[in-house]
Amino acid sequence: MAKIIGGITTSHVPAIGRAIAKNLQTDPYWKPFFDGFTPIHAWLETNKPDVVVVFYNDHGLNFFLDKMPTFSVGAAPEYNNADEGWGIPTVPTFTGEQDLSWHIINQLVDEEFDLTTCQEMSVDHAFTLPMALLWPSQVWPVKVVPVCINTVQFPIPSAKRCYALGEAVGRAINSWHSNAKVAVLGTGGLSHQLDGERAGFINKEFDLQFMESLIHDPKWATQFNSAQLVEKAGTQGVELLMWLATRGALGAKAKCTHQSYHIPISNTASGIMLMEPVA
Ligand code: DHB
Ligand code: FE
Repeated sequence: MAKIIGGITTSHVPAIGRAIAKNLQTDPYWKPFFDGFTPIHAWLETNKPDVVVVFYNDHGLNFFLDKMPTFSVGAAPEYNNADEGWGIPTVPTFTGEQDLSWHIINQLVDEEFDLTTCQEMSVDHAFTLPMALLWPSQVWPVKVVPVCINTVQFPIPSAKRCYALGEAVGRAINSWHSNAKVAVLGTGGLSHQLDGERAGFINKEFDLQFMESLIHDPKWATQFNSAQLVEKAGTQGVELLMWLATRGALGAKAKCTHQSYHIPISNTASGIMLMEPVA
């Protein structure tokens, strides 16, 4: 059977793409952020995943406000990035792991999750930039399965439901007939709000408590409804739902192998975690 070897969570601010394009990794503004990935590069080099399942939120590239699935899973042979208007270079095409995609889709529907299955799907900055942070060469050594969670148009799924989705995806990966090593990547957050009266809102205390909870009390954030999450983390901070799904996939117990928190990059509190399941 396939094995989940770890979960990585990170922010996905578009400005990261610009920093990469301009080689600003050691610039004083960017260095604390990019340095957070050095231990993750070492872990990837040692552990060499074959497949990455990516929990992320599309921001209007593949889905727009006219048709907005709550949960969608990619089942495409390949996934392309496209210009979203941020002025950042696109990244090379990703190869899909279609066998795992369909296994996850079948398992999730069996477990009564109502999904949109996408046999064609373009991936936006929330997918591409975390991948480019993990593999700076942009020569992808892994196949991918995108799992998209709506956090851009209300109503959004609850924290409890996203955790349960992650748990179900974890069970599906662990029952996939394959010898593959699978990593889970969750992108978005932490606290940020890009518009409205609270534009620029960041909540360090909440972010740090949330990161800590993923190890010691992983369902802690599921006590909050969507409005409470917006209040605590900001309108776009609800992207932390991707972190909850990632944590859910790792099973009952996980240890933190690396973490980093830096404020701000662009308008966002940047958090990074590397977690490993504990049997
Ligand atoms: C920013 C953060 C995001 O999560 C995003 O999707 C777009 C922009 C920002 O802080 O600039
Ligand atoms: Fe975002």
